[in-house]
Amino acid sequence: MSKKSGSQLPRSGSFNLQKFLAAKTVAVNEALDRFLPAEKCKPATIHRAMRYSLFAGGKRIRPAILMAVGRTFGASDESLANSSAAVEMIHTYSLIHDDLPAMDDDELRRGRATCHIQFGEATAILAGDVLQTLAFKSMADDETLSAETRVRLVSLLAEASGTPAGMVAGQQLDLDAEGKELSIGEIETIHRQKTGALISAAAVAGAIIANATNNELSAIENYAVKLGLLFQITDDLLDVTQATETLGKTAGKDAAAEKATYPAHYGIERAMAMASAVRDEACESLTSIEKDITLLAELADFVLHRTR
Ligand code: IPE
Ligand code: IPE
Ligand code: MG
Ligand code: MG
Ligand code: MG
Repeated sequence: MSKKSGSQLPRSGSFNLQKFLAAKTVAVNEALDRFLPAEKCKPATIHRAMRYSLFAGGKRIRPAILMAVGRTFGASDESLANSSAAVEMIHTYSLIHDDLPAMDDDELRRGRATCHIQFGEATAILAGDVLQTLAFKSMADDETLSAETRVRLVSLLAEASGTPAGMVAGQQLDLDAEGKELSIGEIETIHRQKTGALISAAAVAGAIIANATNNELSAIENYAVKLGLLFQITDDLLDVTQATETLGKTAGKDAAAEKATYPAHYGIERAMAMASAVRDEACESLTSIEKDITLLAELADFVLHRTR
């Protein structure tokens, strides 16, 4: 756990961050809109379903992390656009499939009916599938990057999205854990894989695009692994502390499904203290970086204090 107290770590008001997040949401939405076939393009059902889930008001935190890291190390906005869209497509695919009746069986997502409720299960499965393939295409076709960088990014994203230690692996562990008593180490592994892996890949992608040094890459990876764990701890906390209307997804689902979560294991107060400690650890990982890391520290604060 943290050696320094939270107050000694970089902290500042979040006005700049809010501005940054709003601007990056616009940028990634534009990139996504460019990649996705138009709604009317045949077969229209699948294109409507993809756009319905993608443009439903997600926080766009993974693209923001990628762009924040890229900017920290001097990458141009243009060189970060395709990769930001790619991580958001993978994320949205994971949400569509996560909500399916065979998985978490949710009816509300991003403030609207889930993809399978709106379009039927078969189309929801296909919408997830095609968002995944399109994500890799958007990286592979990125003309702002060298062929070598594109291949590196595709490999990074594939590893983070899959098995044995990526998002799909974590989702499998999450389902297998329902109704079971797990150790905290096992819960942490689920969180690192199902959520942390993609968040980490987003951060590392930003650093790769910006040609960060190996030392910088490893500092960013340490930061992002903590940030990803923090993100899922706060997701679990919000599930028990916030209302459905605030979350845009059904509150209280984790307890009902007997999911393995930090608040279920430790109770809300201890889980909150642990979240705060993980935020401190994330920020400590940034101290070796000789660049302005304010934005990255603010992102960690944002993830800790978010209300949805
Ligand atoms: C929700 O992610 C699923 C998790 C991995 C915890 P977000 O909270 O980022 O969802 P959106 O993108 O804002 O809808
Ligand atoms: C989902 O975790 C992680 C994914 C890879 C989608 P959750 O199942 O807790 O996410 P929510 O709460 O449904 O958004
Ligand atoms: Mg789930
Ligand atoms: Mg879920
Ligand atoms: Mg959740």
